[in-house]
Amino acid sequence: MAGRNKVTVVGAGNVGATAAHWIAAKELADVVLVDIVEGTPQGKSLDLAQAAPIDGFDVKLVGANSYEATADSDIVIITAGLPRKPGMSRDDLLKTNADIVGKVTDEVAKYSPNSVIIVVSNPLDAMTQVAYKRSGFPKNRVIGMAGVLDSARMRCFLAEALDVSVEDITAFVLGGHGDTMVPLPRYSTCAGIPVTELLPKEQLDAIITRTANGGAEIVGLLKTGSAFYAPSLGAVEMAQSILKDKKRILPCAVYLEGEYGINNLFVGVPVKLGKNGVEQIIEISLTNEERAALHKSAGAVQELIDVLGI
Ligand code: NAI
Ligand code: 2OP
Repeated sequence: MAGRNKVTVVGAGNVGATAAHWIAAKELADVVLVDIVEGTPQGKSLDLAQAAPIDGFDVKLVGANSYEATADSDIVIITAGLPRKPGMSRDDLLKTNADIVGKVTDEVAKYSPNSVIIVVSNPLDAMTQVAYKRSGFPKNRVIGMAGVLDSARMRCFLAEALDVSVEDITAFVLGGHGDTMVPLPRYSTCAGIPVTELLPKEQLDAIITRTANGGAEIVGLLKTGSAFYAPSLGAVEMAQSILKDKKRILPCAVYLEGEYGINNLFVGVPVKLGKNGVEQIIEISLTNEERAALHKSAGAVQELIDVLGI
């Protein structure tokens, strides 16, 4: 029998610790939680381990401030970094988080050279590009989480507007994880029916705007941090598809080399996730307007990459 899967989560803050919680509760893998703050990953892992007898999940949880215990992880979820504060744009975080993600990636590549890296740290698309360049991993093994979150937000708002179960709603949000993201109502459905046939344009436009501002809406409410329940579950859904070779089709930030007319850049598009990480980049047909919006969004990511010079 194959051994248990192993997932390392770097950053034991709100997103990282909650990701560890979802992984354990779903009994997906043993978890190593890493942070630079002494005691935090150890304390949160121990607390989660003590929840195991209550819920009945059998996974090992370990906290650490260095990477030895992370060796040979199947997946590494990187959430290390600073979250956005009120009034701060995702891009303000650029250089600080690039430095953090770069150093974390060096350790990940050293200890888990065969892992799939899922990046969550912001600004998402640029940080995923940092992890890709620093790791030297093939492009199928470095993936950014944003589209799953952004489309979940859109699904939540659509279900509310239609007064139906969220289970019956699918939605696609493409592009970079920023204000220029591209929600696609044409490819969003309620039980297979395009939502463009079910909701008036003004209502759809309002949902699109709320989706694009979804992160800022929560920052404005929380005041001392940003969203973490849905973001962490987004990363875990991607990890699950890879660990179980489910071949889910999910919007993820991946390295494009000509797809959608975009080159050498991480941008969110639909992909198939299986045991090899990104197994296929799916090119859906876009109207001229949708394509222009995607390119505008990719341009915003490119600006960050130019600032970083990578
Ligand atoms: P947080 O502040 O609660 O946790 C971040 C953790 O990273 C802290 O515990 C900190 O000590 C740790 N850390 C900092 N430098 C480190 C290093 N070199 N090595 C290991 N750990 C280190 O922040 P939160 O809310 O967990 O967010 C984490 C990141 O995820 C932020 O950059 C945030 O903007 C981003 N995010 C991205 C989303 C997305 O859709 N891609 C959604 C939500 C958050
Ligand atoms: C979000 O969208 C902060 O990027 C994070 O909630």
